[in-house]
Amino acid sequence: MAKADAAALADKPAETLTLEEAREELARLVAEIGAHDKRYYEEDAPTISDAAYDALRQRNAAIEARYPELKRADSPSEKIGAKPSGRFAKVRHAVPMLSLDNAFEEADVHDFLARIRRFLGLKEGEEVALLAEPKIDGLSASLRYENGVFRRGATRGDGTEGEDVTANLRTLGDVPEKLGKGAPEVIEIRGEVYMSHADFEALNARMEKEGERLFANPRNGAAGSLRQLDPAVTARRPLRFFAYGWGETSEVPAKTQWEMMQAFRDWGLPTNPFMKLCADVEEALAHYRDIEAERARLGYDIDGVVYKVNELALQERLGFVSRSPRWAIAHKFPAEKATTVLQGIDIQVGRTGALTPVARLAPVTVGGVVVKHATLHNEDYIKGIGRDGEKIRDGKDIREGDTVLIQRAGDVIPQVLDVDLSRRPKDAEPYVFPDKCPVCGSDAVREHDPKSGRTDAVRRCTGGLVCEAQAMERLKHFVSRAAFDIEGLGAKQVEAFWRDGLIKHPSDIFTLAERERTSLKKLKDREGWGETSVKNLFAAIDERRQIALARFIYGLGIRHVGETNARRLARHYGTFAAFMEGARAAGGEAGPAWQELNDIDGIGPVVAEAVVQFFAEAHNIEEIEKLLREVTPQEAERVQSTSPVAGKTVVFTGALEKMTRDEAKAMAERLGAKVSGSVSARTDLLVAGPGAGSKLKKAAELGVEVIDEDAWLKLVG
Ligand code: IVH
Repeated sequence: MAKADAAALADKPAETLTLEEAREELARLVAEIGAHDKRYYEEDAPTISDAAYDALRQRNAAIEARYPELKRADSPSEKIGAKPSGRFAKVRHAVPMLSLDNAFEEADVHDFLARIRRFLGLKEGEEVALLAEPKIDGLSASLRYENGVFRRGATRGDGTEGEDVTANLRTLGDVPEKLGKGAPEVIEIRGEVYMSHADFEALNARMEKEGERLFANPRNGAAGSLRQLDPAVTARRPLRFFAYGWGETSEVPAKTQWEMMQAFRDWGLPTNPFMKLCADVEEALAHYRDIEAERARLGYDIDGVVYKVNELALQERLGFVSRSPRWAIAHKFPAEKATTVLQGIDIQVGRTGALTPVARLAPVTVGGVVVKHATLHNEDYIKGIGRDGEKIRDGKDIREGDTVLIQRAGDVIPQVLDVDLSRRPKDAEPYVFPDKCPVCGSDAVREHDPKSGRTDAVRRCTGGLVCEAQAMERLKHFVSRAAFDIEGLGAKQVEAFWRDGLIKHPSDIFTLAERERTSLKKLKDREGWGETSVKNLFAAIDERRQIALARFIYGLGIRHVGETNARRLARHYGTFAAFMEGARAAGGEAGPAWQELNDIDGIGPVVAEAVVQFFAEAHNIEEIEKLLREVTPQEAERVQSTSPVAGKTVVFTGALEKMTRDEAKAMAERLGAKVSGSVSARTDLLVAGPGAGSKLKKAAELGVEVIDEDAWLKLVG
């Protein structure tokens, strides 16, 4: 059948199809749904929304209901037992599911404790009790219980929003349908879903017999099994669960983490038997060594030990930095290592033009994962030279053909650690790092910073706009998850559109639909696309014409402006116009605009300089103007707070007696205040303790309100 006819058929209501048309349509739907399943499950790159996908399945079912005799053996409705429920619904977590900071060495754990002690202002001899427990290598889940009954279960997702996998979690023997006596009215139990080694082996053996794809490791097995559309499939998968924390709760019936875990156990939730309450850091580290020694005998994967401050009141005071708690840390086990042959060195060109050498390796399994690539960091690293010009690896260089030692730690990109000179091929030549960009041919240079006198370790392509690699990477960044996150438009699709000249700049994304109307080569005729997916893509793009300011700023790809800094800038300036005006005014002389940019908490001169430079480039302004014709960044969400200090700029000076400066600052920020280091006309409040000097004087001159620590504590409740 010709393409045009197929498209017309796809638009025809199911109940008006003739027998012949229905047969054609069912064949098309099998292919289309199959292709979407592949993109969703195997490539993790869906091109249509969940609703559109459901519509396809419903259409398939409707046609089959009308012509049962046409139902195909490979029909999507026949797949895996009971009727699949379509894609998972989204669930917003009442309390975000955060991540943990990592420690790799004992010294990092001591630093973690020192930070806590400093923050809380503890005196010598005042110990902080820690709960130490295995860090389970699975995937986190949140179980919501209301009146003691399991109501909803969700995956972590991006931490803010996960997938509703209630029916699947319900099939786990470790997830009680009801909690025992004494459970709060509402509680979200947080924990890890995992698969034991024995169950994993048995599952893979079964999958092999059934001709299915095998899982690479137990964690993938657990993730793949939990995210099954059909709960009956999950039920046949041997998943387990350990509870280790909580989200929203109507009541906290304990004073410590340890007591809370005891309560969990009393309510019938599985907690890890290797949890131990430790009186101090030394005891916690000893427990780490015990767990490490037991690791191989546990029967399930763990990748470290988590330490948590035991007192809940202290946890509360410590709060969070960015996306992880100040009161907990994951002490990771040493990375897994393996030896393999370096087959070649490829150079990747990043968004900022950085040339990164990547090792192409003879595939090797490291800790259950097949590794084919590893980073070589930069030119000096290959030569055996460290950051400060010192020798690394005793000055040994790395050559193509070498036998190398690689290591993989968690989800971090594997790296090449060492070379075995005794196995170096006779004809191996020292690697010559290119001084031209391998993509656009422009000079690739290492910048010299006259201020520090240092030469950048990174060689960068000077091609800027002409360099296709940079342009493409910038686009990929623009559509990435933390930026515009357009459903159906991931890195792969952007790359394809880019190659065909359809999208060269971010603003082109938003004119795509308009151009499509007059285009002769229609998007729906492209490989992997169809009428519905194109329609959905345009809808997803339109959805992003309104976008959070922080996402917009992050998406611009300004050097040194990651998610956190983008949030800081958004929160400070409030609107994009104010940000752009501030950034442009900050260029040139070191005037008040430059000062303002530098004064933003967490933004230093390096970031400020990068921001200024970005807005000093005419081509950036040009693209921003085009983009702003299509997209409206929303005003930044001011911190929602009813506190009297919300939105105020506060300065602390002199000694504080009831809490440390850090804690006071964190508290003020939590309540929506901005904390600044210097008094100016913009200061709303000066909190002055004993010994206050010049800031107090300045505040008096400027007529800024001054209060003492007690008044501050009263004010913030
Ligand atoms: S506590 C505020 N305890 O590790 C975050 N997490 O890197 C509290 N994990 O997403 C997390 N075992 O999935 C905690 N005993 C344990 C854990 C654990 C595994 C995972 C969890 C989290 C990730 C953080």
